[in-house]
Order: sequence, then C-alpha cells, then structure tokens
Amino acid sequence: MEVIVCNNYQEVSMKAANYVIKEIILNPETTLGLATGSTPIGLYQNLIDAYRNNLVSFEDVHTFNLDEYIGLPKDHPQSYYSFMYHNLFKHININLNNVNMPENESNNLDYLAKEYNNLLCNNTIDLQILGIGSNGHIGFNEPGTPLSNETFIVELDEQTRLDNSRFFMSIDEVPTHAITMGIKNIMRSKKIILIATGDSKKEALYKAVNGEINSSHPASILQLHPNCVVICDQEAGTLLEKKTL
Ligand code: F6R
Repeated sequence: MEVIVCNNYQEVSMKAANYVIKEIILNPETTLGLATGSTPIGLYQNLIDAYRNNLVSFEDVHTFNLDEYIGLPKDHPQSYYSFMYHNLFKHININLNNVNMPENESNNLDYLAKEYNNLLCNNTIDLQILGIGSNGHIGFNEPGTPLSNETFIVELDEQTRLDNSRFFMSIDEVPTHAITMGIKNIMRSKKIILIATGDSKKEALYKAVNGEINSSHPASILQLHPNCVVICDQEAGTLLEKKTL
C-alpha cells in the first residue's frame, strides 16, 4: 500500500485525477470503478477540466459505480445516479451505454444484486476509486460485513445514515438500505486509489492503513491489495504511522 499525503483537498483531487487521466491515456478503453460522496467531487472536476482541455477522451471508457441507495428513484436529487450525472457524466463525452450503476427498483432486490454481480464478474475494473466512511466502510461494506461478500443488499449503519444526513432534510429521509459491490468485487480491481480528506476521516484512515485487518474495519482489507494507493490530505493523514509514509 502506497500512501501519499498532500497539502490539501485541491492537491488530493489533482493527484487522484492524474492517476485516472494516465490510465485513460494508456488505455482509452479502460474500465473505471467510481465512487460518489463529497470526497471525489474535486477529482471529477479535474477530469471534466482535462476533457475540456482535450487532454483526455471518455468516448471508449466504461464505468461501474460502487453502490446505490434503495428506495430513491434515479431522478431523485440524492440518488447516486443523479450524483454521477450532474458531477461528471453530463460534462464529458462518455457514452451513457458504457455507464453501469446498480439498479435499485424491483420486488426482488437480491436478483438485482446478482445481476450486477454477474456484470462485474464478466468485466475487469482497471482502476477503482474509493472514498472511506468515518466508520471504515468502503462502498457500503459496513463494519462487520464478511470480507468475502460479492454484490449484496446492505442495511446501512446508523453512523453512515448520520454522516449522509447532511444531504437530506433530516435523517429520517436517508434510505435505510443500499445495493453495493462487495469487498470481493472491489479487491478484484487491478488498481485502487482511496482518497480521504478532512479531520473526520483520520481515525478511519489510520485503522485502514496501520490497523489490524479485520471485518470490523472493512477498509483494512486494502492492505492486502497488490496495487492500492492512498491519497489523503494532512488532516486525514495526521495519525498515520511514519513508517508507512
Ligand atoms: C460512495 C461510497 C462511500 C463513500 C464514503 C465517503 O459511493 O461508496 O463509501 O465513499 O461514504 O463519503 P464522503 O466522500 O461523502 O465522505
């Protein structure tokens, strides 16, 4: 696991975007794994700028998103589909047929999870972008999730609902369930970059990088990935042990 500590959010966003841009330049048909949330917004902005400056084309890029809430229609402002569309897809030349997001509307949600999992098993993610929850989740693999899980329906942790309530009018509006890639899907990616910024992530990041590997802190499994880079700002990286830097 390589750890890069940057001065601030802007530098994290730029460094992370440069990994993605390099990947696409080397392989224009690359498959990206994408995350939502506050952390990657700056990264996506840099990708949009790179596209506008003709540095990169998304024409042949394929994407798979990590997760989606259950119970919010696609056009809900807080659905992850809306997030991706407004923060990235509508600004670049990606073919929306190449975009994959977990479906979330069915009487048989387990079937949807299985379908998304089949898609993931038939494709290889070249570069997966991850954020980290303050409770150590990656995707929506909450503490206690078996590390062998593939795509599944998860009941969201109270901490996650509380953290994400900032995007809703109240915590009662935050969905209770989501569909998420499992740890196994994430670990199959060829490369992973995990980005973390701000003081609220310092403990989670410390446990992910320096802690024991166990399912009570799902991000710790990334220590076992052969090609994982952590890019954080000084606040999130403040507890990291010197030997890892
Ligand atoms: C989002 C996702 C989550 C977030 C994490 C951090 O698709 O899978 O794991 O990356 O909750 O969210 P932010 O960046 O909002 O702190």
